[in-house]
Amino acid sequence: MQRTRIKELLQSTAYGSTVCVKGWVRTRRGSKSVNFIALNDGSTIHNVQVVADTDKFDAELLKLVTTGACLSVEGTLVESQGSGQNVEVQATHIEVLGTCGADYPMQKKGQSFEYMRQHAHMRLRTNTFGAVFRIRHNMAMAIHQYFHEHGFYYFHTPIITASDCEGAGQMFQVTTQNLYNLEKTDDGKINYANDFFGKATSLTVSGQLEGELGATALGAIYTFGPTFRAENSNTPRHLAEFWMIEPEMAFYDIHDNMDLAEEFIKYCVRWALEHCADDLVFLNKMVDKTLLERLHSVVENDFVRLTYTEGIEILEAAVKQGHKFEFPVHWGIDLASEHERYLVEEHFKKPVILTGYPKEIKAFYMKMNEDGKTVRAMDVLFPQIGEIIGGSEREADYDKLLARIQELDIPMKDMWWYLDTRRWGSCPHSGFGLGFERLILFVTGMQNIRDVIPFPRTPKNAEF
Ligand code: 4AD
Ligand code: MG
Repeated sequence: MQRTRIKELLQSTAYGSTVCVKGWVRTRRGSKSVNFIALNDGSTIHNVQVVADTDKFDAELLKLVTTGACLSVEGTLVESQGSGQNVEVQATHIEVLGTCGADYPMQKKGQSFEYMRQHAHMRLRTNTFGAVFRIRHNMAMAIHQYFHEHGFYYFHTPIITASDCEGAGQMFQVTTQNLYNLEKTDDGKINYANDFFGKATSLTVSGQLEGELGATALGAIYTFGPTFRAENSNTPRHLAEFWMIEPEMAFYDIHDNMDLAEEFIKYCVRWALEHCADDLVFLNKMVDKTLLERLHSVVENDFVRLTYTEGIEILEAAVKQGHKFEFPVHWGIDLASEHERYLVEEHFKKPVILTGYPKEIKAFYMKMNEDGKTVRAMDVLFPQIGEIIGGSEREADYDKLLARIQELDIPMKDMWWYLDTRRWGSCPHSGFGLGFERLILFVTGMQNIRDVIPFPRTPKNAEF
């Protein structure tokens, strides 16, 4: 008989009809005469209650109905009195598809997230992680929907690359060479000539440079793919492998770029409120009691826009008034998360877009301001998260861009094709990158980025 997903079943009013549900046992409780089995199949946060009269079933079979076991149940859909749902299933037939012993690591309720990370292959079956990954899916759909509706093309940029977009040297190398017997050149360097690609290659840190080629041909594109950073940052906000969304638009200046970032991220949050209500209510209750309030606040308020210089002035004033930061504050610093969060959570109590950063702390491709000191960068800073988006207007002038590349000693052999966009039909353009997991952190209220990607990759951790 055809299985009904629990999400649909719970909406049904076809009382008296025969149904089949399959899923994993969350709990079983009951008395001598009747057992109540809470069954979940991942389609929704809600369980369906299966009622089994003990005299209709073999006692040995019911013993196998333990937390974590997988069942197929046939029965009658009946109106429910006490399960908290409209319907329940009065079981006529129970088959145990997979038993589950007491060593099942998700057996107990209320385990710490840290514990669950050690069992990331099984944590997916818990209420919290089910909610998080259903929301993650929904956010991916929202992103594609937003850009599709707004005339952006989904553009696939390479994962293996020979250029370092952010210039931070945090790349994982890709090679097929025998690491025990590396070929060297006469001057002792590694000889990449015989390597797979005939040159040194790495996993990409960003699809932006190729994205710019797309935007200056198709008008507006976005990428959505995995990116890799070999930075040794063991923080609740950094992954070595994360997903990034990078829109890139011809004819957008920095102000258009900010407008887009704000509208886009509000669209995503609104989507979550509309499409993930049950999961959000659950997370708001179990994980973070201010989650829904924060999501509504972001959707309903304008983001604050100010320059880096103004931001530093606010932080300096805070220091004068006795506020203690771990890291010192002065013009020129790369803002630490504590600084970003002070601006957002304490000073403005709203998301902030900071612009006009010192050129020294930003990447080579950003458009220089008239002052010669700051660039047209923009970082979107969010409550609880800090930086959620980083972007800029791009330097469109060939000579200025070349000068900056030379100043920073970036090898031309990696950059000639990128410079060609400025040689032939150059145009003003802008773009940004949204860290997908940071968005999911914000939307779910989870505290650690390792808990919003199914199988996190962080320093010293590539399990599963
Ligand atoms: O600020 P980032 O480094 O900017 C870029 O890569 C640009 N090429 C984007 C562009 O203009 N097209 O990274 C963009 C965003 C950050 O704001 C942050 O949300 C996220 O990517 N991010 C990370 N997320 C998780 N783990 C990490 N290690 C991250 N590094 C950056
Ligand atoms: Mg950044």
